[in-house]
Formats: sequence, structure tokens, C-alpha cells
Amino acid sequence: MIIGCPAEIKNQEYRVGITPATAAEATLRGHKVLIQSGAGNGSGFSDSEYTEIGAIIIDTAEELFKKSEMIVKVKEPQAIEREMLREDQILFTYLHLAPDLDQTNDLLKSGVTAIAYETVTDRNGGLPLLAPMSEVAGKLAPQVGSWALQKANGGLGTLLGGVPGVSPSEVVVIGGGNVGVHAARVAAGMGANVTILDMSLPRMRYLDDVFGSTFKTAYASTANTANLIKTADMVIGAVLVPGAAAPKLISRAQLSTMKPGAVLVDVAIDQGGCFETSKATTHDDPIYEVDGVIHYCVANMPGAVARTSTIALGNATMPFMLALADKGWKKACADDSNLLNGLNTHKGNLTYAAVGTALNLPVITPEEALSL
Ligand SMILES: NC(=O)c1ccc[n+]([C@@H]2O[C@H](COP(=O)([O-])OP(=O)(O)OC[C@H]3O[C@@H](n4cnc5c(N)ncnc54)[C@H](O)[C@@H]3O)[C@@H](O)[C@H]2O)c1
Repeated sequence: MIIGCPAEIKNQEYRVGITPATAAEATLRGHKVLIQSGAGNGSGFSDSEYTEIGAIIIDTAEELFKKSEMIVKVKEPQAIEREMLREDQILFTYLHLAPDLDQTNDLLKSGVTAIAYETVTDRNGGLPLLAPMSEVAGKLAPQVGSWALQKANGGLGTLLGGVPGVSPSEVVVIGGGNVGVHAARVAAGMGANVTILDMSLPRMRYLDDVFGSTFKTAYASTANTANLIKTADMVIGAVLVPGAAAPKLISRAQLSTMKPGAVLVDVAIDQGGCFETSKATTHDDPIYEVDGVIHYCVANMPGAVARTSTIALGNATMPFMLALADKGWKKACADDSNLLNGLNTHKGNLTYAAVGTALNLPVITPEEALSL
């Protein structure tokens, strides 16, 4: 198969859909890999790293889209890219169609077979192509939060781990899933006293079994949350209610109960944020202050560490990309119901029920699409 990877054109997107390592696996299996010139630069991969393993550098996006049977990207195709998609092509990337009628209509019009990273599942019902970015954002959260805690950034002026004779900082993580556990591990590793609040008892049992005394767990009741934030130097918001906006777990009124200069890192900002006073910020201008509390609310945190994020994403997408290339999309999806769950559009049909509900559009089942 001819697999094409264009340079990302979305604002501040430095990741790339195919790493040299992933390209090497594909070329070894006899596939032709086309990379747009400079596509890997933002993640630190030069064109020559791709040509060394047999990939072909293409100058323009137009030529790449024209020649490719499968397009592998990171972000959803932008309007100018959507104009270049065709019915005989596979598109494999993050799509997030539910809030995006324009993109959905364009993909349907193009007839492209679009497989969305975010809806591919694993055998435990997890989302294996979302998990790596949650791991990155989680590990980054205490790092950016400790930067915000520095005096020059308006923070409390505390060091996460303290020093001999000075107590470590208190970190509260709300939500103990993928983001939360990685955030808690890093904060604890930096020497902070960490408490995870969650509402799932099975999840807290798991955390307790696996991590023992590395951090404490507490039930995320309103009272526990209210008490813990009073003494917290940093609160990391990491909740997810699948398919819904994040619940607001700290109100504006509660900010005055916190230490002046304490830091809120709202990782759940991509789902609307879990603090009442959160509003999305960018890597250029990541923090702001409300009632003395510093807020960090960057919606695409993994972009800050594009190289790590690209490699992590590539590791997760590679087996699916190779299956699509080796077998063609129909057989690959027929053989693997988790990959079939990723199918969002085919030949002008929407095949993902939740997107149909969100946008009030008709859908067919992915199984029906297999027989078209
Ligand atoms: N900002 C970014 O760049 C970025 C990057 C990756 C993920 N995220 C977001 O981070 C959030 C967490 O993602 P995840 O992969 O860890 O999800 P996850 O499903 O693995 O974990 C979510 C956890 O939240 C818990 N939870 C739900 N409601 C709660 C409540 N009211 N109080 C306490 N806990 C509650 C759940 O029990 C679960 O353990 C999501 O909103 C995700 O979109 C943001």
C-alpha cells in the first residue's frame, strides 16, 4: 500500500503521524511510505532520517494526498486538506467529529474511509490511541504546575519536594485514571505529599494495591474535596465522564478558601474543565490568576513535548496502521472489532452512532459499511 504522511498544518501542532521507526516497519513489509518534506521537523526527525529507512520525501501536500492510498496524520484534516481526500482513500488520524459538523460533512462528501484514533478500542473497553496522550499530559501536569508555583509566575513560591527541614508541598489530584495516576506518580517522585480523589472504589482499590503508600487515596465527596483544597499547594484536575462535559468540582467561591498562590492545573480543560474558573489557554500564554489562585489550562498539553508525544502515539498506532496496510481496511476491520470501532465514515455514510446522535445525522452500522 502507498502510505502518506503530510506535515501537520493545525496551529501549534508539532507532532507527526509517522515516525522513522514506524515508517521502517512499513517499508520492511513492502509498503511504500511517502513523507511530506519537513513533516518530522517539529518532533526532531529530519527528512534524511526517513530516507535512510527507505521512505520517499514528497515536496507538497497536494502531491502526497494525490499519490497516497492511506493518509496517516495526527490532527483532524483541516478544510484545505479535506478538499484533497477521495473515496478510494483511507484516513487514519484523530477526528473528534461529534462537535464538528463542518468536518463531518466534508468527510462524508469526500467519500473517504475515515478511521478515528479516539474511537479505536482495546479488549478491556479502553481507548488505546487516546491513552498515550493522557499519560503524557499526566506526567507533564506536576512539571508545569511546579513551574507555575514559582514566585516569578505568581505562585506560592514552594518547592514540590521541600528540602531537609522544610516540608514538601501538598498535591491533590482529582480523578485517578490515566492522567491522574501518571500525575500522582511524578508529583510523588518529586517528593510531594500526594492525594488522589476518585469516585470509583474499584479504581481506588487498584491504585492502593499497585502503588501502596506512594500516594493516598480519598473518596471524591464534596466535603473531602473542600477540605483537601484548603491545604493544597497544587490541585490537578484529571476527571473524565465519558461522553459528557467535565463536572465542575471547585467553584469560584472555593478559591478564597485556598492558599494565595496555590496552583490549579486543569488537564480536563479539553472537556470544558473541572474548575468553574477554568478557561482554555495556550502554550504561548499558559497561566492566569483568579482570586489569587494561578490557573494552568492548556488544552493540548502533549504538544509541549512533541517528540515524546509523537513517539508514544506512533508506538500505539503502528500495529493498527500496519494491519490496515497489510490487509486493506475491510479485512483488517473484519478481523478486529476494536479497529472496526474506529470506523467513522465510509463512502459518504456516517458509521459512528455517537457522532450521528450529536450531529443529528443518519448512521449505518460499521458492519453494514463492511458490505458496501
Ligand atoms: N489537556 C490535555 O492536553 C489533555 C491530554 C490528555 C487527556 N486530557 C483529558 O484529561 C481527562 C482525564 O483523562 P483520562 O485519560 O485520565 O481519563 P480516565 O477515564 O482514564 O480517568 C478519569 C477518572 O476520573 C474519575 N472521575 C470521574 N468523575 C469524577 C468525579 N466527579 N470526581 C473524581 N473523579 C472522577 C473516574 O473514576 C476515572 O478514574 C480527560 O478529560 C481527557 O480528555 C487532556
